[in-house]
Amino acid sequence: MKVAKLVAAAVMASAFVLPTALPAVAAGNDKPQPPGLAKQDTLRWAAPKNVRIGTAVAGGGHHETMPYANPFTSDQQYREVLAAEFSSVSPENQAKWEFIHPQRDQYRFAEMDAIVEFAQQNGQVVRGHTLFWHSQNPAWLEQGNFSKDELRSILKDHITTVVGRYAGKIQQWDVANEIFNDNGTLRTTDNIWIRELGPEIIADAFRWAHEADPKAKLFFNDYGVESINAKSTAYVKLIPKLQAQGVKVDGFAVQGHLSTQYGFPGDMQANLQRFDDLGLETAVTEIDVRMNIAAGTKPTAEQLAKQSSYYQRALEACLNVEDCKSFTIWGFNDKYSWVPVFFSGQGEATVMWEDYTRKPSYYALQSTLLKANPGGDQAFGPPPRLPAVTPAVASKS
Ligand code: G3I
Repeated sequence: MKVAKLVAAAVMASAFVLPTALPAVAAGNDKPQPPGLAKQDTLRWAAPKNVRIGTAVAGGGHHETMPYANPFTSDQQYREVLAAEFSSVSPENQAKWEFIHPQRDQYRFAEMDAIVEFAQQNGQVVRGHTLFWHSQNPAWLEQGNFSKDELRSILKDHITTVVGRYAGKIQQWDVANEIFNDNGTLRTTDNIWIRELGPEIIADAFRWAHEADPKAKLFFNDYGVESINAKSTAYVKLIPKLQAQGVKVDGFAVQGHLSTQYGFPGDMQANLQRFDDLGLETAVTEIDVRMNIAAGTKPTAEQLAKQSSYYQRALEACLNVEDCKSFTIWGFNDKYSWVPVFFSGQGEATVMWEDYTRKPSYYALQSTLLKANPGGDQAFGPPPRLPAVTPAVASKS
């Protein structure tokens, strides 16, 4: 949405006052509902018609080491909130190489299949993540001592097989993830593909993805590229070069893993705009806002307010750029967030408390969406009520 449009929308929205906590009672239904299940009280309903509001779907990665069952297959409330609140879903780990391709001659599709099926049942799109990365690759690949020809054919087979399996069902693929260092040089040591096959392999990855699913939008995705800096500028230079070679690149995505201990990247909108100016779609694909927090304590009101403002400003940055149409949070419940597992002494990074009640950051997103879209939009909602978790679903994990 252009700035002028957003300002006009905000003026119209100011005609009504947003309550700090929207009632958890659906219009015309006097039964209280859990948060997120009332039709006009969800993020997806509040979002402008052409903007997808998404979340990562918990599973794999750090979840496998935590003392809880797989949230997606075992936590019914998780599934209900996931269906009700979001119009886009991203596999947090379930489409990464180590998960979906655990042996050279073996793919493991059940978890990703279940996410895609869930999305289709609930009117959601799927962001595929990811095909070409330096991390979470299986040992058979990283330690295989393959020849260049073998590696090239392994990558082509993987992209063709995975993208092909979900052809027509994935809205956007993060084809290449985190390919640059912070100083704007390519990751030539830890990225097996670039190290062994040279930078030209990046173009091939996009070509193979496009051949396997001509309709999927193909993205670069990275962290630390919210601002105008050496890394984001490296993408500004690379993408037009690829396009000049006839490679289809549709978009550039900023992950958005933010922390209240650092300042908000105030030039985020300007940065997204320079990709928009190249004719690309943009997206925010993994936002969370972590904070320093001592074990067993709760965030202060100041910390929560700062966190809310970061979520709000990031969302506004996206809404103010015309072709930023996908805004995804990296998990919606603090219980399942990757942050405390990865950053000792930090956490509380998402928009819901462990009991699924909403944090101020949730309301910051909701009110920002409503301001851009007075009255809400029903294009992507409401989803159907899900059947309870069944042993058949649970056994797919
Ligand atoms: O591989 C080690 C294994 O050797 C070790 O025994 C085990 C014990 O803890 O840990 C294993 O690593 C885990 C890894 O997943 C492997 O699957 C890490 O601890 C765990 O923290 C990691 O979590 C995932 C992380 O990606 C890996 O980079 C998170 O679940 C996932 O949320 C996170 O997602 C990434 C995006 O894909 C890309 N952008 C950054 C984002 C956050 O890191």
